[in-house]
Amino acid sequence: MSEEVFLALCRPGFESDLAAELSDRAVDLGVAGYPRTDRDNGYVLWHSQQGSLMPLLDTGLIFARSLYPCAHAFTELPEADRIGALWPALQQQGPFNELYLEHADTNDGRELARFLRGFRKALEPRLRKGGLLRERAERRLHLFFQDSRNGWLGVSPVSLPLPENGVMRLRISPEAPSRSALKLEEAMLRFVGRGRPDGVHTAVDLGAAPGGWSWHLARLGIKVTGVDHGKLAPALLDEYPVRHVSADAFTWRPERPVDLVVCDVVDKPARTLALMQRWLLQGWAKTALFNLKLPMARRYRESRDLLTRLDQGLEKGGVQALIQAAHLYYDREEITVWVDARRDH
Ligand SMILES: C[S@@+](CC[C@H](N)C(=O)[O-])C[C@H]1O[C@@H](n2cnc3c(N)ncnc32)[C@H](O)[C@@H]1O
Repeated sequence: MSEEVFLALCRPGFESDLAAELSDRAVDLGVAGYPRTDRDNGYVLWHSQQGSLMPLLDTGLIFARSLYPCAHAFTELPEADRIGALWPALQQQGPFNELYLEHADTNDGRELARFLRGFRKALEPRLRKGGLLRERAERRLHLFFQDSRNGWLGVSPVSLPLPENGVMRLRISPEAPSRSALKLEEAMLRFVGRGRPDGVHTAVDLGAAPGGWSWHLARLGIKVTGVDHGKLAPALLDEYPVRHVSADAFTWRPERPVDLVVCDVVDKPARTLALMQRWLLQGWAKTALFNLKLPMARRYRESRDLLTRLDQGLEKGGVQALIQAAHLYYDREEITVWVDARRDH
């Protein structure tokens, strides 16, 4: 049986965490294989020797920004005719619905951006003319360049919402009280698939100041209570449905249940986890979105153990919940977790 290769992109510096996660998930799926990576290169290649990682495409991975199977490696493309050299593989894998030209999120990778803009201008019309780029096609073409002559050709189903380079392009509004607003926007898109979760009308924001997350929620029409000893941006209180409570996030209780609790307090992950678990078990909120600070080493193992603890704690308390976690583009030394404990999730 021929070997199946997957390419997974990550934040540079998190390759060993992603490799550990891939190995763990492969064991769950009964897949035999091994990860290959170089330190700080921003991606991991998974080689399956038996079985397939395809089921992971839908569930996603905490430390992968994107994951897809690679059909071909391309090596030493001739500078004079890269497209000609790629053409047989493109014909074999096409037609495609869209073209992603990708690189790692490293200095070397970003230096390829200009070359890739020029290459797109040459390749896109050729693909269209050759009938390989069509609106109705169901596959997306990924050409991942390690440098301007070497890389991988991969494909993913268009139904899978993967952004190019695994990075959503979001713009900060000049009105946002902090850049953190972008993280909440990215989290909602990643976990809920759109800007706003259905049925969420009220929210509590623990550790809200200066107010980026509260602002983002309020802009969606959600009524927010922001809890923080620090001050919220004045415009937030004047122009949006936001109420400020100066209190301790770990002891404050809502007067009545809300649809969503979010928490951006920077604290020990076990403490944040216990707080969120309490909110969900007490029924103070039906959904939760929060950050968990990561340790310096073994970040995947720690994340997995914390999420297992949360799952077991909720189950023991009779709460069935869907738990998702991701190391988002706007996350640095933390992961973001989404918990949906509504019956219809
Ligand atoms: C990273 S900032 C939050 C940024 C906010 N999400 C935004 O979008 O602007 C963390 C906040 O948590 C607050 N904080 C820390 N410990 C707290 C506690 N025990 N109770 C309430 N707020 C706390 C800090 O005052 C700080 O404003």
